[in-house]
Amino acid sequence: MPRIVVLTGAGVSAESGLGTFRDKDGLWTKYDLAEVATPEGFAADPAKVHDFYNARRANALAAAPNAAHGALARLEAAGALIVTQNVDDLHERAGATGVIHMHGELMRALCAACGATWPAPRAMAVDDTCRECGSGPCRPDIVWFGEIPYHMERIGVALQDCDLFVAIGTSGEVYPAAGFVQDARRAGATTLEINLERSGGQFDRVITGPATHVVPAWVAEVLGPEAPGSAGS
Ligand code: APR
Ligand code: ZN
Repeated sequence: MPRIVVLTGAGVSAESGLGTFRDKDGLWTKYDLAEVATPEGFAADPAKVHDFYNARRANALAAAPNAAHGALARLEAAGALIVTQNVDDLHERAGATGVIHMHGELMRALCAACGATWPAPRAMAVDDTCRECGSGPCRPDIVWFGEIPYHMERIGVALQDCDLFVAIGTSGEVYPAAGFVQDARRAGATTLEINLERSGGQFDRVITGPATHVVPAWVAEVLGPEAPGSAGS
C-alpha cells in the first residue's frame, strides 16, 4: 500500500449530525468565532466559551461515527496516518487508534496555567481547577485561532514522506492545514480531494459526493474489497 496521509475536516462528521463551520447554517454563521474560539474570547467571557464547547461536547457524545469514519479506521489499520482538524472523537469511536488531532480534542481539558491535560468532564465550568497545579483557569483542550496547532513537526515529516495525500471534508480555508496539499505536492506526492464539492485546492484528483458514500468506495479501491464476513462499518 502506498504511504498515505489523510487530512479530515468537519465534512467527515457532517453525516453524523455534527455541524460544519462554513457551510450554510454552519457554526460560524451562528457564533462569533472571536468570542468562542480565541484566547481573547476566553479571557473576556470564559463562561460563554465553556457553554459553547459543553454544547459541542454533548452533541459529539450523542453522535455516532459514520461509514466514512469506519472506512478510515480500516485504512489506518492498513498503515495510513489520519491527521484531523476535527475535535470530536468519532475517528476513535470507529476504531482508529493513532489519530493526530492538530486542533485538539473536545473530550480533553487543559490547564492554561501549567499545561496539564486530562479527560474533560461532560460539562466544564469557570471554577474548575487543575488536577496538577490546583489553579487554572481550565479550558477545553482546543487549539484556538491565533494559537499554534499541535504535532506540526510530526505532520511535516509525514507529508515529506508520503506517496499520497488525501484531504477529506475540509474547505481548505484555515492554515496551516490548508497548506498541507502544497507541502505534499512539493515533496512529490500525488494529491486527492474527497468532498461534497471541490474546494478549489490544487489536487491531482477530486472525488465528489457525501463522505459516507465516497470514502468507503475509495478505501475499498485502495485496500481491495473487504474480505467477505469482515466487520462492516
Ligand atoms: N461529505 C463530504 N464533505 C462534506 C460533507 C459531506 N457530507 N458536508 C460538508 N462537506 C464539506 C464541505 O463541502 C466543506 O468543504 O466539508 C467542508 C467543511 O468545511 P468547514 O466547515 O470549513 O470545516 P473545516 O474545513 O474542517 O474547517 C477547518 O476551521 O473553524 C476552524 O478549527 C476549525 O477545524 C476547523 C477548521
Ligand atoms: Zn495546572
